Amino acid sequence: MKSPVTVSVTGGAGQVAYSLLFRVASGEVFGSDTPVNLIIKEVPEFVGTLEGVKMELEDCAFPLLREITVTDSDTEAFRGANWALLVGAAPRGPGMERKDLLQLNGASFKAQGEAINKTAAGDIRIVVVGNPCNTNCLIGMSHAPDVPRNQWGALTRLDQNRAMAQLALRSGKTVSDVTNMTIWGNHSSTQYPDFENARIGGRPATEVINDREYLEGEFVKTIQNRGAAIIKARGKSSAASAANAVLDHVRSLVNETEGDDWFSIAIPSDGNPYGVPGGLVFSFPCRSDGKGNYEIVEGLELSEYAKGKLDLTTQELIGERNDVSDLL
Ligand code: LMR
Repeated sequence: MKSPVTVSVTGGAGQVAYSLLFRVASGEVFGSDTPVNLIIKEVPEFVGTLEGVKMELEDCAFPLLREITVTDSDTEAFRGANWALLVGAAPRGPGMERKDLLQLNGASFKAQGEAINKTAAGDIRIVVVGNPCNTNCLIGMSHAPDVPRNQWGALTRLDQNRAMAQLALRSGKTVSDVTNMTIWGNHSSTQYPDFENARIGGRPATEVINDREYLEGEFVKTIQNRGAAIIKARGKSSAASAANAVLDHVRSLVNETEGDDWFSIAIPSDGNPYGVPGGLVFSFPCRSDGKGNYEIVEGLELSEYAKGKLDLTTQELIGERNDVSDLL
């Protein structure tokens, strides 16, 4: 058995966490040789609910689950944590863009960044899920000066998974045939799901789906607006698919990337090979060494069309950063 991994999950009483916690505790993320300690955080008015979640976790009798700590304090939430899954945030409602949540959620990421800086383990890896996740990540990171910036990331894996599923559906192939799927930029309606560098069954997706009008039109719009479509249909934002994407994000970092595939995560843009300005949290294609570290995949060709898309999402992120300058 390896030594236990301590995983901190915020927004513990919410729907995303309810889909997430049991799967983390079951061992499906860190492996059957790694015991798990859970720290579950919720704001004071909902923390009582967590006693029920804790009872259910105990009642699963997961062989790998060790300690379960329930708390409403940022100081306790990240103590000794190796992973912080920052799910807790007010969700958007119908008709809102994710950035409309900036003022509402931004300040809590400042406090979380400060607490992570003081109390987390040195190898802490952070995944920001609460929206707008790229800029919330930027806020958190800027209040954690002792945590290396490349240990912070925000979730665009949900967009990657959505894009893979749509390409598989359209081409009549399976999701596992779809590889090399990059989401560039912001987890928002300006993101660019890069069909030009994606592959289906090892072939360029643009050859397998030889329909540029669909790819530039319906495909891109579906991925950009999928979160809103789910809110409209369900009356609530995505939960199980968001949790699933968080687990995929973590799994991609704790397992070495195979073959010539890659995955998408939003990370600090400083020094990237694609000319995206530094000081943003931007989604790139990455590969991992399996130890929690990543490197950006270099040398992907970007058409003029793609460059235009990257520029749009960059401008949006610069705007979001300006809007929270008082929190940085
Ligand atoms: C999603 O993409 O489903 C989540 O980020 C929730 C949202 O507001 O869209």
